[in-house]
Amino acid sequence: MALEGKRVLLVIGGGIAAYKSLELIRRLKERGVLVRVIMTRAAQEFITPLSVGAIVGERAFTDLFDPASEFDIGHIRLAREPDFIVVAPATADLIAKMAGGHADDLASTVLLATDKRVLIAPAMNPVMWEHPATRRNFAQVLADGILVIGPNQGEMAERGEAGPGRMAEPDEIIAAIEASLSALPDKNALSGKRVLVTSGPTHEPIDPVRFLTNRSSGRQGHAVARAAARAGAEVVLVSGPVELPDPTGVKTVHVETAAEMLAAAEAALPVDAAICAAAVADWRSSETSPQKLKKENGKAVTLSLVENPDVLATLARHKRRPRLVVGFAAETEKILDHARAKLKAKGCDWILANDVSPASGVLGGPSNTIHLVTAEGVESWPTQSKQSIADGLVSRIAAALNAAGARK
Ligand code: CTP
Repeated sequence: MALEGKRVLLVIGGGIAAYKSLELIRRLKERGVLVRVIMTRAAQEFITPLSVGAIVGERAFTDLFDPASEFDIGHIRLAREPDFIVVAPATADLIAKMAGGHADDLASTVLLATDKRVLIAPAMNPVMWEHPATRRNFAQVLADGILVIGPNQGEMAERGEAGPGRMAEPDEIIAAIEASLSALPDKNALSGKRVLVTSGPTHEPIDPVRFLTNRSSGRQGHAVARAAARAGAEVVLVSGPVELPDPTGVKTVHVETAAEMLAAAEAALPVDAAICAAAVADWRSSETSPQKLKKENGKAVTLSLVENPDVLATLARHKRRPRLVVGFAAETEKILDHARAKLKAKGCDWILANDVSPASGVLGGPSNTIHLVTAEGVESWPTQSKQSIADGLVSRIAAALNAAGARK
């Protein structure tokens, strides 16, 4: 995708990697990108607004309460006008401010006031990167749909220090901007469409205090719901128990079990598209004890399990079948063979096969590698964030629904 003519707002945080942002600006400009820059106070300790301004071709914005810029541009315009926002370097402090929703300087205020996609390129000392506070804040910004590139492993500016924390290189950041912008659905790509998304695990009770479940976080499904809503769809998200906030602009129905998930999904019909991203428990206990089960002197306990209804397969064969039914498949080997078999067995239109082998680093990580399997063939997507995959999927869904609509 050509970046030419796109408006990118670059927020430069205060880290030694700020010097690489000058190179980033230069390369973006070479590609015809219209760059505008905000510098935090700390960034100005590393590079000057003068040198940034000279490369950008206009002044760098630095102050929230700057009468000149509030009259000519203003922080709301800075937040709304760009097509895309990049934070590079994203310091521990800036990530913390984003996670907490702070707005005490121009950079954090603009980041809070924007409705545009934001990509961060973290850069900090490895000990700061691995600190529990940074881990918490980073998890929060990911859950909020922020895109991430890096950090890379390597030597730090401090002598003898190495590890994760080096800012991604300018070319890597530009590739990530390009991938995210090309995945981005048009603002009204799904307006007038109803979309159903299932997400999260299910809990299958054994007794009043115990249940069977799995490790699904719901992040991918929630990202799909958020992306569909941003593209103008009316979205019903049927979610098992997760620790994520309900996405804004989405009707979220909370369920516990597979049976409840199926009932809620059927109640949402008719819809134009259904995306089943939930990790539904395959089995439930055939009996649920009304009282807590007690130990009996070391006696072995046998649980009898029965298979749960398959939400995806039921929707795909429903008399009110959505025009497009999409499933996910988590595989550790023979990814494409298994995905093709699943496509047939479930009767759905597309399967997004997800490589969760330990080597892929997907489990617990922010990014994902997807192969889109359809009756026509397989398309492998570059490794990218779960939010960016959601954007790409929503763009594809919009294209398919609009083409199907045109045929009618
Ligand atoms: N699915 C569902 N209802 C179920 C089981 C699965 O809707 N009871 C959906 C999931 O939401 C996902 C797809 O089916 O879209 C995954 O299929 P599944 O057969 O469960 O595959 P895996 O989870 O990958 O497990 P396995 O490889 O063990 O079959």
